[in-house]
Amino acid sequence: MQRFALNDLCCPSWLEAGACLGRLLLDTQTVEPLHAEQDENELIEGMLVCQHCAAAYPVVCGLPILVADAWRYLWDRYDAIVGLAAEARLPIGKTMDEWVRERNAGTEPAMPGESEYESLAMTHEYLAVHFDDFRNALPGDHPLLPIAREHYRSDFYSVAMGMIEPHLDPTMLGIDLGCSVGRGVYELAGHCKLVYGVELAFHSAFVARRVLRHFPARMNEYRLRLDGDISRQRSLPDRSRDNVEIVVASAESLPFASGSCGVTNNWNIIDRLPDPERMLAEQERVLRVGGILSLAAPYNWENRHTPRKGWIGGKGAVRTVDAIRERILQSSEILDEKAYIPWVFWIFERYFEFFFSHGLVSRKRV
Ligand SMILES: C[S@@+](CC[C@H](N)C(=O)[O-])C[C@H]1O[C@@H](n2cnc3c(N)ncnc32)[C@H](O)[C@@H]1O
Ligand SMILES: [Zn+2]
Repeated sequence: MQRFALNDLCCPSWLEAGACLGRLLLDTQTVEPLHAEQDENELIEGMLVCQHCAAAYPVVCGLPILVADAWRYLWDRYDAIVGLAAEARLPIGKTMDEWVRERNAGTEPAMPGESEYESLAMTHEYLAVHFDDFRNALPGDHPLLPIAREHYRSDFYSVAMGMIEPHLDPTMLGIDLGCSVGRGVYELAGHCKLVYGVELAFHSAFVARRVLRHFPARMNEYRLRLDGDISRQRSLPDRSRDNVEIVVASAESLPFASGSCGVTNNWNIIDRLPDPERMLAEQERVLRVGGILSLAAPYNWENRHTPRKGWIGGKGAVRTVDAIRERILQSSEILDEKAYIPWVFWIFERYFEFFFSHGLVSRKRV
């Protein structure tokens, strides 16, 4: 985590009166801060403490863990985090390790295995869709090629970005919610002063930092799955940016001050949240008046991600597109809308997933 982030991040804890939003300071007493040898502004490990409610948030492998129960979060996926840390030669320090174990004494980790968005396979699927072009990876006789030539001129991210670009300016702070491995952060950062990626899956956040900040090491390649266990190594372009940072946090409890932000994206995440309305309210809270909200999703509601009562539309006679439009109009004016933005996922060489996201860009009025 770069030192500059302490100016923008705040405490996401939920108190009786609402979000705490206290200032976070680096506590040098509890856990000795560990900085990168080659960059003293890079905090690899440490403890952030809220000046208002005293909640503590660890920084692990360069990522601040700004979630409600950060110790439980770490413990639930501790094996995977320890593995990633060791692989990156950033072993978890002794004091931090003791804190995690002590705070979780007597409980079993909830996710000893890999969960969907934290899995290696899915992280690499997202590297492919964010930073590679499936057309260049297909054999010349693949039947998808002529279809793509005809009907798929630009990838999802270029289209979604093209919709907000005219409304951005280089003084803005941007936030990309559910950023996965970082394409949205990368794109926004080309037009904003500073951009934060907010991601709940540790593995994705870790990889996003490797891609965007080259920390702890640049991600040069990924594995594209072809068939069963067979995969091919593909190179990744250099997508580093100085004006970005990634935080582990929930889109439903953003660690940013109210009115602090000029643009927020939520791309393909609204139908993956327990409480989508809470995310929209959080986006509206952090945006300043006149700020830009970009929403895109295929509205693929599933009870396992979003219990039905939280769906915005998609039930009774109300289509999600209409319900979303109506909801956004409560606080904002709509600047642009696209009915269908194709989003193509390579799963295997003979298995693709196609989504058609609805895209909407709005400006906050009140
Ligand atoms: C369908 S993917 C979309 C990723 C990216 N925005 C894109 O369009 O390619 C949804 C992402 O949201 C993340 N996510 C799920 N719940 C989240 C939450 N509460 N807060 C932040 N990120 C979340 C997942 O880990 C995953 O990376
Ligand atoms: Zn607090």
